[in-house]
Amino acid sequence: MKHQQLIVGLDIGTHKIACVVAESTPDGKLDVIGIGTHPSRGLRKGVVVNIDSTVESIRLAVEEAELMAGVEIKTVYTGIAGSHIHGYNSHGVVATKNGEVSAEDVERVIEAAKAMNIPADQKVLHILPQDYIIDGQDGIKSPVGMSGVRLEAKVHVVTGAVSSAQNIIKCCHRCDLEVADVVLEQLASSEAVLEADEKEIGVVLVDIGGGTTDIAVFVGGSIQHTSVISIGGDHLTNDLVVGLRTSPREADILKRKYGSCLTTMVPADEQVEIPSVGGHEPRTMPRQVMAQILEPRVDELFELVKSHLDQSGFRNQLSAGVVLTGGSSLLKGMVELAEEVFDAPVRLGTPTGVGGLVDVVSTPIYSTGVGLVHYGRRYRQGERQKAKRKSKPKGPSMWQRMRAWFGDTS
Ligand SMILES: Nc1ncnc2c1ncn2[C@@H]1O[C@H](COP(=O)(O)OP(=O)(O)OP(=O)(O)O)[C@@H](O)[C@H]1O
Ligand SMILES: [Mg+2]
Repeated sequence: MKHQQLIVGLDIGTHKIACVVAESTPDGKLDVIGIGTHPSRGLRKGVVVNIDSTVESIRLAVEEAELMAGVEIKTVYTGIAGSHIHGYNSHGVVATKNGEVSAEDVERVIEAAKAMNIPADQKVLHILPQDYIIDGQDGIKSPVGMSGVRLEAKVHVVTGAVSSAQNIIKCCHRCDLEVADVVLEQLASSEAVLEADEKEIGVVLVDIGGGTTDIAVFVGGSIQHTSVISIGGDHLTNDLVVGLRTSPREADILKRKYGSCLTTMVPADEQVEIPSVGGHEPRTMPRQVMAQILEPRVDELFELVKSHLDQSGFRNQLSAGVVLTGGSSLLKGMVELAEEVFDAPVRLGTPTGVGGLVDVVSTPIYSTGVGLVHYGRRYRQGERQKAKRKSKPKGPSMWQRMRAWFGDTS
């Protein structure tokens, strides 16, 4: 079977590695044809800290996906997260060349907006256009072909630590995988779970994974703010390890089965059996004790998200409220507690817009993996259009971008 339009998302998370293989059909659909997951062993707080363990986990996840899809995976879109990620809003201005905005003018104005002081150990990951202004008229999303002499662009620039991106690429290369692009994880997730209307009227995506909580704010159809908090579900598990005196493995199982972050949701008389460590007898404990441990930690996390939103200045513009995704959004009581803290509508975000193995990927755990596939398709379409526009592309090619990560810009 020939799979010409294979797009693969490789979500290298702190808790698990997920490889999502999709086929882009000629009628514009995306069909998921294979999935592989493996517990992640070499990351801390979203960042690779052990290359060998990460390589091993990636290899196993990719092999599983290859087997299920019946294809050989050569190129992947992969995610990046961690506290080294920074998002800025920037602005550029240029004069148009012929009194009409050309694709080249748009590229120049984006370059101008990118010109800002970035620390030497950081590199630009994304330049995301928010809005174009032509001769003072704002609110323009597609400026090419419009008349005007002065073109301005508002953009959101995302930067990340060069070393973190290099380590991700290195791990993939060691698994014989080419990296098509390194994508900010919440940007990928937003492609899979947010609706266009939500992005238009204002929404915040909160992707709560194992090691990080990734935030992305959309208003007026464009991304306005991105940030990362180095707290995730694995911290909740650790709190249970200490509070219940059990192993991390058992704590994670108990959290999924009986955990809740709202004490009021748990019946007062329910008891849970807690396996002990070191050969001690298991103990029984009121289920409410678990909720009493989890609630303050989740509450603290949501308060942190709220303070990030306050700092971004967009908290009062989020008419569509909050969309929670990532594995930890499955903890019972999450939506209810978030509604209380944010005083806004809250929903759970699961990946949409794909066919094929929908039943398997319809969980917040695969939001980033499926989002990477969406991103990959959109990126390829953009590249194709660019290539069509000019016979000799002037912008950096994918290969040049990847080489630039390694400091080789020749
Ligand atoms: N049903 C559930 N209830 C509660 N927590 C859950 C449930 N399912 C998964 N989790 C938690 O979700 C976390 C993993 O989420 P996810 O798979 O999104 O993380 P990740 O993408 O690997 O990590 P990160 O994005 O932070 O690097 C773990 O802490 C796990 O315990
Ligand atoms: Mg994740």
